[in-house]
Amino acid sequence: MVRVSAPYVPDENDRELLRLLQGGTAVSGEAISRRLRMSRTAVWKRVQHLRELGYAIESAPRRGYWLPGEVLQPDGIRAQLRTRWLGKEIVCRDVVDSTFRLMRELEAKGAADGAVAVAGQQTAGRGRLNRSWDSPPQTGLYFNVLLRPKLPTAQAVRLTPAVAVGVCRGLQELGFDARIKWPNDIVVGGKKVCGMLLEMGGDMERLRFVSAGIGINVGQRAFPEELREKATSLLLSGGREISRLRVLCAVLEQLEAALELTYADYGALLSQYRARSATLGARVRAYNAVDGMELVGLAQDVGEDGELLVRDDAGALHALRAGDVSVRGMMGYV
Ligand code: BTN
Repeated sequence: MVRVSAPYVPDENDRELLRLLQGGTAVSGEAISRRLRMSRTAVWKRVQHLRELGYAIESAPRRGYWLPGEVLQPDGIRAQLRTRWLGKEIVCRDVVDSTFRLMRELEAKGAADGAVAVAGQQTAGRGRLNRSWDSPPQTGLYFNVLLRPKLPTAQAVRLTPAVAVGVCRGLQELGFDARIKWPNDIVVGGKKVCGMLLEMGGDMERLRFVSAGIGINVGQRAFPEELREKATSLLLSGGREISRLRVLCAVLEQLEAALELTYADYGALLSQYRARSATLGARVRAYNAVDGMELVGLAQDVGEDGELLVRDDAGALHALRAGDVSVRGMMGYV
């Protein structure tokens, strides 16, 4: 019989350990064992587990352990962030299952419009169409933004193009040639660098909130074989290291601007979406997640609700409200 061991799930002691090691200064095994009230062997075991999870914890004899690299903390983010209302409330966690769950908790406690939940790592990151989102520590950005717009529930769909435009503009501001692959992937050089997923809370009568989950590949140096053709990071596409803090702030600032534009002049926001689209005007193979059908045709436009309008070879126009597209043979994954 093969025994399958359960995956290691960091507990409060691990989180405390990570907090102690952050900032790049070495902390002795002795000091950690005193702080966590456990033996030095137990500390060493925890360090090993965290390393297996992807934390690049360094150690040296007589110096101790430390975690090099950047740590996202509310104060550090606030110090750099130039927004009026978005990100006034920021919560950061080292490890969560998903920032969607964290944001649900914050929302239930009454978090304000524009609250941001950031995680250093996700153990169960969620992607679109029931996929998972690989969320290793120290390389990616994983965050949710809570929106409480005064919009009728029927207009909540407007937030999908709004968030896509905001994130795309943020990356463009940092010098990346970012485009939007319908509905809301952000691609650089024909490969996906960012994905987002929006969830709504409320009912037909009243939109209570929208939680926008955004994952950006920032510092990954490589991707698993099966993703290599499709995924990239800002480091790989831009050829330079860029801090997650800088990316987060640029994206949140542009997101605020895109949301304000959406509320004031949605037509103008849609024009910005169309201008950044990597899909429009191309011959696409489209998967319609609503009826499970595939079709091939010309991606003609994006409608009022962010739906993709595809004209098939027989001349019929199809409106895709959820799904995926690819411009096969021309731009690879895009
Ligand atoms: C996609 O499939 O393209 C959407 C990916 C969305 C990933 C982000 S990471 C932060 C937030 N928390 C999650 O569990 N998922 C989203």
